[in-house]
Amino acid sequence: MVQTKKASIRVILGTGGTIAGRATAMADNVGYVAGEVAVSDLLAAVPPLAGLALEAEQIAQVDSKDMTFAIWRQLALRVAHHLERAEVQGVVITHGTDTLEETAWFLQSVLQPRKPVVMTCAMRPATAMVPDGPQNLLDAVAVAGSEDLVGVVVVCAGQVHRAEHVAKVHSYRLDAFGSGDAGPMGCVEEGGVRWFHGLPPAQGGAVVNRFQLDRVASAAVLPRVAVITSHADSDGAVVEGLLMLAEQDPTRRVRGIVVAATGNGTVHVALEKALLQAQASGVRVVRATRCARGRVIPGVRSSFPDSAGLSPVKARLALALDLMAEDSL
Ligand code: SIN
Repeated sequence: MVQTKKASIRVILGTGGTIAGRATAMADNVGYVAGEVAVSDLLAAVPPLAGLALEAEQIAQVDSKDMTFAIWRQLALRVAHHLERAEVQGVVITHGTDTLEETAWFLQSVLQPRKPVVMTCAMRPATAMVPDGPQNLLDAVAVAGSEDLVGVVVVCAGQVHRAEHVAKVHSYRLDAFGSGDAGPMGCVEEGGVRWFHGLPPAQGGAVVNRFQLDRVASAAVLPRVAVITSHADSDGAVVEGLLMLAEQDPTRRVRGIVVAATGNGTVHVALEKALLQAQASGVRVVRATRCARGRVIPGVRSSFPDSAGLSPVKARLALALDLMAEDSL
């Protein structure tokens, strides 16, 4: 009988963010520089992690508002590399809160992992008098050890959120994340994980979707997709500007537009006119709602498809990856 090694290692990948932020004063929770403290030092600051089988790797050191496709590509490759190691149980990623939901959705969409990938963060810098990062990191490591969990989740302030649902919903509070109507999928209590919803079934198949990852690995950029908000007194100027730019410089051609639409996917008539022109010229247009909760109900008559419940920023990624797949046909 072939002896399979029990997966026991959890790999912690650092990308920066406030969790790795440094301020000059302990009481300063806002005037800090994000992405300063090495991931190995973040781990060393959490004594209960000592003695666990952990490995640390620094992938990037950025404020997540400055996240790039190049970092995402590298991150996806390293996550895949570690997940494919038989001895690795799961991966934890430390990340800034500001674009965390986008990275979570990117990794989920590209990798469709069959082991846990747990993203975590902090709202206070590592130098704060009472930092939240150490507890979040401890909780994230616990979640990454969950035997039945597959896919990308976010752990913050004791809650576990699915990549598909999670969004940053507060600019300052420690419990800055929510999962909208779906609610969090679970919580972490004293190192134990309590699931509120049934976990998605861990179907067989590859640990990561290499087919999709290879496409991302060989791309220099994501197809350009813009997000435009429909608001009172909108006009078509931004769309017209994008189309003009494409005429002047084809390398900056916009391939898709996600409209963050009002309510149940409605679009200001002046913006809609410009979007119809863009669509007629080959630009893919998708409607997501700008409402913090709810979705665009499918079936409502519109010239533009809806985002299947994804928020505008996640719909942007879904459309970009779809265009990338189309290009490879
Ligand atoms: C960032 O997103 O990198 C800075 C803000 C944060 O992590 O809370």
